[in-house]
Amino acid sequence: MRNLYIAGNWKMNMVPSEAAKYAASLAAAAKDAKVKVMIAPTFVCLPGVVEAVKGSNIIVSAQNVNDHEKGAYTGEVSCAMLKDIGVNSVILGHSERRQYYGETNEFINKKVLFALENGMEVDLCVGETLEEREGGRLEEVLTAQINVGLDGVTPEQMKHVTIAYEPVWAIGTGKTATPADANAAHAFIRGLVEKKFGKAVAENQIIQYGGSVKPSNVRELMACEHIDGALVGGASLTLEQFLPIINCVD
Ligand code: 13P
Repeated sequence: MRNLYIAGNWKMNMVPSEAAKYAASLAAAAKDAKVKVMIAPTFVCLPGVVEAVKGSNIIVSAQNVNDHEKGAYTGEVSCAMLKDIGVNSVILGHSERRQYYGETNEFINKKVLFALENGMEVDLCVGETLEEREGGRLEEVLTAQINVGLDGVTPEQMKHVTIAYEPVWAIGTGKTATPADANAAHAFIRGLVEKKFGKAVAENQIIQYGGSVKPSNVRELMACEHIDGALVGGASLTLEQFLPIINCVD
């Protein structure tokens, strides 16, 4: 039985003072949560949010990290910097980074390997565009994203990897994949993990669904065999919406 893992990707929302205030109220409200909970504020909000959730079981994650130890990489943030402020988790390969900042599977793989070598938990995002889905390329796209994105990762390191299936056409659009479609994509991803890392790893692999998850649809999505959590964008930005999502298990 896999435990549900619900994460909030705050993307480029909230200034540091708002983020810290919201994180403190979330930590208090979610103290009896039955699921694993993560929030991912933007870099400048991280120190205040870490402080605000101290002593709670909420995991604080970054939305990106650089693939070098340190040096002349203007505008970048390293694993060591994150770890120094108490952030040991990172989202990598989000579709917005792939789409707007040209991140390729190969580039994302470098970050995945570097983050894992540095003892961080990684949430690797994969998912197809509408054009790819309609063109019958879903499996081809997911195969490349998983096989290249996780190239060189060991079965042991996979304990520190979460996969988030986020169909690009469902992100921020209000269109959710049907539970059946999402479950089929998750089953396919689990099969890829099994081929690459073996049955035991695949059985324990947490695969989150992301794309317009809301209080109204979370339960039917989480009821699916291969869906083990959610990576939530818009609905993670308010307690009114995020709390019922976290509390989706009785
Ligand atoms: P929405 O929940 O706003 O569709 O965003 C999903 C997402 O991209 C989470 O990473």
